[in-house]
Amino acid sequence: MTNIKFFTGENIPLEMHKVRIVQKLNLPPVELRKDAIYEAGFNTFLLQNKDVFMDMLTDSGVNAMSDRQQASMLIADDSYAGSATYTRLEDKVREIFGMEFFLPAHQGRACENIIAEVFVKEGDIIPMNFHFTTPKAHITRLGGQVEELLIEEGLKINSDHPFKGNFDIPRLRKFIETEGTDKVPFIRLEAGTNLIGGQPFSLENAREVAAIAKEFGIPTILDASLLQDNLYFIKTREESCKDMSIREITMELSNLMDIIYFSARKLGFARGGGICIRHEQDFMKMREYIPLFEGFLTYGGMSVREMEAMVVGLDETMDMDVISQGPLFIKYMCDELQKRGVPVVTPAGGLGCHINASAFVPNIPQNEYPAGALAAALFIAGGIRGMERGTLSEQRNPDGTEPLANMELVRLALPRRVFTLSQVKYAIDRIVWLHENRDLIGGLRFVEEPSTLRFFLGKLEPLSDWPEKLMAKFREDFGDSL
Ligand code: F0G
Repeated sequence: MTNIKFFTGENIPLEMHKVRIVQKLNLPPVELRKDAIYEAGFNTFLLQNKDVFMDMLTDSGVNAMSDRQQASMLIADDSYAGSATYTRLEDKVREIFGMEFFLPAHQGRACENIIAEVFVKEGDIIPMNFHFTTPKAHITRLGGQVEELLIEEGLKINSDHPFKGNFDIPRLRKFIETEGTDKVPFIRLEAGTNLIGGQPFSLENAREVAAIAKEFGIPTILDASLLQDNLYFIKTREESCKDMSIREITMELSNLMDIIYFSARKLGFARGGGICIRHEQDFMKMREYIPLFEGFLTYGGMSVREMEAMVVGLDETMDMDVISQGPLFIKYMCDELQKRGVPVVTPAGGLGCHINASAFVPNIPQNEYPAGALAAALFIAGGIRGMERGTLSEQRNPDGTEPLANMELVRLALPRRVFTLSQVKYAIDRIVWLHENRDLIGGLRFVEEPSTLRFFLGKLEPLSDWPEKLMAKFREDFGDSL
């Protein structure tokens, strides 16, 4: 990370890149924003991009690409089989992770599908630091369960623990001793733990997990989708790693794993995915699923252009100037919101700024989806599209009851190198306004509820006319401003 101090002492993140391609944005007036959220069934996934000013839904597949990535796409070798582009990707992945085998897949969940198909059987329990929606859906689809073994501190919204994504090591040991190894096909470690606010694990913690795994003969699988943020935090927060390069940290972490998979919509600033595999027998078992679900072995459902961009993107991920941009902007946003009394997850993590909806709208009970309501309200307030990460993102239990999420968060993702600091300041401004007017926000209920991954396509309605009241207050306070 480059050290640049401001003469005035101001402490703001400074971009180590310049913008060379732009996309025009549109901010519709508040009346249209209110109509748009009704049309979207109060689900920010269902909004149309033309109505969105700041798309903070996700960092998946929407990070800015570098000039080198764009250039590489022009030299992609387009062939169904034996493409030189694929060989370049395989070589790059081998160079970075040091694993012998690689399988391509069209995105992260495709890797999860294949891993689950090969390893998970009815009755299995998969320990993980924390679940993520798509791996959990694949594991449960096959009759397995997930067991979250996160350190206690990880579920505290506000903490000064630098590695809230750590595994609870004594609980992991006890869990395996109690369940026995037959039911535990692998241990899943998630880098940059998504659903608890993009929180990292430490390299030390990964070493401890791997030692237990080895002792019991259980494979370790790393979900490296959010690895770039986790690497930044290991480098900046873990004393024993501060003199290691990002490449060295990556290799050391990789050496602890049997399998590493990733969504290249996140890792590598492109669109795609892949599975790195240490052992030939695992490779052979998974390989047959690629032509079945994904495509031939030398593209796995990805376009050659994206694979070429991924080769460069993975290489750039080893550059601290590149990977620090996200965490630094996220920290800026969290700090500024916190100064103004808005409840956010601390310490600031990767991926995005996470607002604590339980504290923002304490009047809305969990079964009325406070985080979903807050995400909808924020869209009305500023054309800002965030993502609900709370009870709405959970899946109903087989008996139809609704598990209440550990945390009710609204995630405001900061796709890397996409927004300028003034846009981030605009978002902060509208969130602060909404916080002042939080009593106007009410709950939601489902009108259409899909049985799996309901947050993607489900439709809801407000429990009162709160959206109209919020819109009226906006007009009163902002006059004719958009
Ligand atoms: N693992 C993690 C940690 C993720 O964050 C995601 C995707 C996946 C796996 C699945 O990858 O989308 O390529 O199939 N997260 C996106 C998000 C959807 O917005 O957080 P995918």
